[in-house]
Amino acid sequence: AKLLVLHGPNLNLLGEREPGIYGRTTLAQIDARLATRASEAGHSLTSLQSNAEHVLVERIQAARQDGTGFLLINPAAFTHTSVAIRDALAAVQIPFIEVHLSNPHSREPFRQHSYVSDLARAVICGFGAESYFYALEGALRWLAPRTA
Ligand code: DQA
Repeated sequence: AKLLVLHGPNLNLLGEREPGIYGRTTLAQIDARLATRASEAGHSLTSLQSNAEHVLVERIQAARQDGTGFLLINPAAFTHTSVAIRDALAAVQIPFIEVHLSNPHSREPFRQHSYVSDLARAVICGFGAESYFYALEGALRWLAPRTA
């Protein structure tokens, strides 16, 4: 299947941004490892980061046309603000996992509401960069369920 990973605003700064919260791994390192793991499992995976809400909305809309079978999305700050990203995910009906490096529930009150969690197949947070890899493992299992 085709997997798409979407990263929201400020995640381009991973590695240097508040490393005590978000760790030292860069976004390029995360994306490279995700793509390698997906291709080992016989899938293709592409990633996009944007600081702009409309770019993420348009990429989600395009996923309906390009055969994307599964999404991993860390909407970052848009998690807590964006009805538009929620509506795009609802419109395309592609299964997705919501991912966060930190655990937003242990942070400020404004991070404790997500506009997308109730639409997500699963939510993974709090493992740092590993959150993405656990999410991918879960997605791979759903895409190729064991028959035995
Ligand atoms: C984040 C958590 C959000 O609250 C925050 O705005 C981010 C990153 C995370 O991955 O931990 O930018 O989505």
